[in-house]
Amino acid sequence: MKIAVLYGGISGEREVSLSSGKGIIDALRKKGHEVIGIDFHPDRLSEIINLKVDLVFIGLHGKYGEDGKIQSLLDMIGLPYVGSGVLSSALAMDKAKAKQIFEMNHIPVAKSKTYKQTEYTVEQITELIKGNFEPPFVIKPNQEGSTLGLTIIKKVEDIAQAVQKSLRSDDTLLVEDFIQGKELTVPIIGSSSREKALPIIEIIPKNSYYDYESKYAQGGSEHIVPAKLDEKLTEQIQKYAILAHQVLGCETYSRVDFILTEDNIPVILEVNTLPGMTPTSLFPDAAKAIGISYEDMIEEFVNLSLS
Ligand code: DAL
Ligand code: MG
Repeated sequence: MKIAVLYGGISGEREVSLSSGKGIIDALRKKGHEVIGIDFHPDRLSEIINLKVDLVFIGLHGKYGEDGKIQSLLDMIGLPYVGSGVLSSALAMDKAKAKQIFEMNHIPVAKSKTYKQTEYTVEQITELIKGNFEPPFVIKPNQEGSTLGLTIIKKVEDIAQAVQKSLRSDDTLLVEDFIQGKELTVPIIGSSSREKALPIIEIIPKNSYYDYESKYAQGGSEHIVPAKLDEKLTEQIQKYAILAHQVLGCETYSRVDFILTEDNIPVILEVNTLPGMTPTSLFPDAAKAIGISYEDMIEEFVNLSLS
């Protein structure tokens, strides 16, 4: 099959995508596909419009790649692609909107509020946050990935700087209660309404939380697969993960992140519609734990996209 792989891109997660893209391209070539790799840039849309391929594998992360925009272009030119469509990609990328949908479906979420740069100054946002949240809490860009622009606030003096940092990634920021607990993630795979959850991974970062370095430096974190949880809790978390994927309308695969509170409540953080496929990424590790190689996992995404 002739497959184009879009990777790189212009989001803050470009470096991550260069690594995911390389893994995806190598895997598809090993499976015997003819692969065209494209380092995506919006200035070169004509290259994509004129592509003559059977399928597009989107190896992008973050803005323009994971948020429905490239999916919309591919829909318009009639090229099939791997993964979620326009609406679900856009919803999953907008953490606040996705949380409203999770809440409506009784999936536990942390208390949060959004503040828009178009409505308030940095000083006003800082004052509003002070009035609404008690440390510890999290300030992060509403639409971003890989913990870029995120700060865990322990003292109110740090709010203004964290607001500025977050606004460099997105003009809306999300402030969320900090949930103390275990960091868990659940990869989801399967065609519509027949999704399966892979084993839950518990992440133990070397740094104080699962930041960019813990995510991508070799040895930056330890992955426990399957996470050591009792059967009932495992089932409940996997059910929530599948439900979260389904209520956003995601397709083929995604990875759903949670914090498990000290009282064993799985609080959902987000759904990643194009989760990392780098050598330190989580999804491939869960697949490996049940005997699915990286290449077979990528091939399964391709097969599911064409069925
Ligand atoms: N946003 C990164 C790529 C992830 O969730 O794996
Ligand atoms: Mg993410």
